[in-house]
Amino acid sequence: MDRMKNSELFRQKAFVDGQWVDAGSMESFQVTNPFDGSVLARVPDMDGADTEKAIEAAHNAFEGWKNLAAGERASIMKGWYSLVMENKEDLALLMTLEQGKPLKEAEGEVVYGASFIEWFAEEARRVYGDVIPGHTRNARIITLKQPVGVVAAITPWNFPIAMITRKISPALAVGCTVVVKPSEDTPLSALALAVLAEKAGFPPGVLNIVTTAHSPVVGEVLTTSSLVRKVSFTGSTQVGKLLMKQSASTVKKISLELGGNAPFIVLDDADIDAAVEGAIASKYRNAGQTCVCANRLLVQEGVYDAFVERFTVAVKKLTVGNGLEAGVNIGPLINKKAIEKVDRLMKDAVAKGAKVALGGQHHALGGTFYETTIVTDATVDMEFSQEEIFGPVAAIYKFKTDNEAIQIANDTPYGLASYFYGKDMQRVWRMAEALEYGMVGVNTGLISTAVAPFGGVKESGIGREGSKYGVEDYLEIKYICLGGI
Ligand code: SIN
Repeated sequence: MDRMKNSELFRQKAFVDGQWVDAGSMESFQVTNPFDGSVLARVPDMDGADTEKAIEAAHNAFEGWKNLAAGERASIMKGWYSLVMENKEDLALLMTLEQGKPLKEAEGEVVYGASFIEWFAEEARRVYGDVIPGHTRNARIITLKQPVGVVAAITPWNFPIAMITRKISPALAVGCTVVVKPSEDTPLSALALAVLAEKAGFPPGVLNIVTTAHSPVVGEVLTTSSLVRKVSFTGSTQVGKLLMKQSASTVKKISLELGGNAPFIVLDDADIDAAVEGAIASKYRNAGQTCVCANRLLVQEGVYDAFVERFTVAVKKLTVGNGLEAGVNIGPLINKKAIEKVDRLMKDAVAKGAKVALGGQHHALGGTFYETTIVTDATVDMEFSQEEIFGPVAAIYKFKTDNEAIQIANDTPYGLASYFYGKDMQRVWRMAEALEYGMVGVNTGLISTAVAPFGGVKESGIGREGSKYGVEDYLEIKYICLGGI
């Protein structure tokens, strides 16, 4: 923290109703650095009663916030965007300390996160309704779009800023108020965002941050409260299903951005060097800890050896280490559980005949560091063909025909991101249409941007975040029938 230029951003209290507060119980929990396990901070360990207070504050603030002109809300949001950008170095530092990702990547995330604030500040002015020709001669029909009300945003540790701004920016822009429950692993970034939001002039209660080490307790209150009208969650499919079930009790709107099992297909007419570059960007971003990371690299037999050879040369150049050090590309995994999962998946794959072309072990740095790893001869009976690896392990499979690649790619309950490299236009269209995924990257390994609709099909989720579609999930359509005209 000594390196921060603006020490105000470092907070060890939660933010409720415009106040920086402790938990009612005065309990707190530690926030640690995944690089070495050192303690960075202690933040309030809030419970159900604290969460009720935050919901109440958001409920009370709703009327005033929704009644501002769209331009007034947009102007506060633009101020917030500018403050986030002005403080991007400090925000990145805080993120690297609590999350582990390299500083440059953290700064990239701050800019990515800020882009949602800017985008939705602009979209706030474009929430249009319709005038519909009436169903009888003397009737006219009008639709209005109105904010749903209090929104609960439950966010993950892998993108401590961007997953918050991607959810709450559309909500705030259209007039909703929010209660954010950040991951217990990365609450400091969320609190720093709130410092800047307060400075930008959001009225008390419009944005609330509830920190807790008891996610199931707080999650249950957020999903069952009748004052909360919408829940937006990014995280595992297992937890998403539970939140969906709990939200059913009050028939809430729900957006879920859940697990993925992204195929990354290299066709035999692909530009292999470009495919290698895209595979590295997709696979090793955030040490492999994203829902859109290439989980299965499917390479056509004619170019398999060439791809593996060039990919291995390129991956060897990646440096694993402390995210604060210059030149580091890959930081530690978030915690012990994450590294145990990678271990389990690797053991299973090797027992079933996979070959380790690179890495395959805990890194010499110890802790939660894992070597950049390439596994060839991967097959569909291996556990990682059906499970998100969430670590720096690239599993490479061989296929013969386009149809076989599509069949393997779609053989999963997930449908978030998919990628493929190829040049022939007919094959490109056929493959893009056949992949059962919410997002398809063609000849690119990076698809995340505020201007496009991010989201999945099947068990990867419900709803879209970002783009012009991102506001829809925070709006209700009201229809007014004018009779006697
Ligand atoms: C995620 O991993 O959930 C989000 C990744 C992204 O926004 O690119």
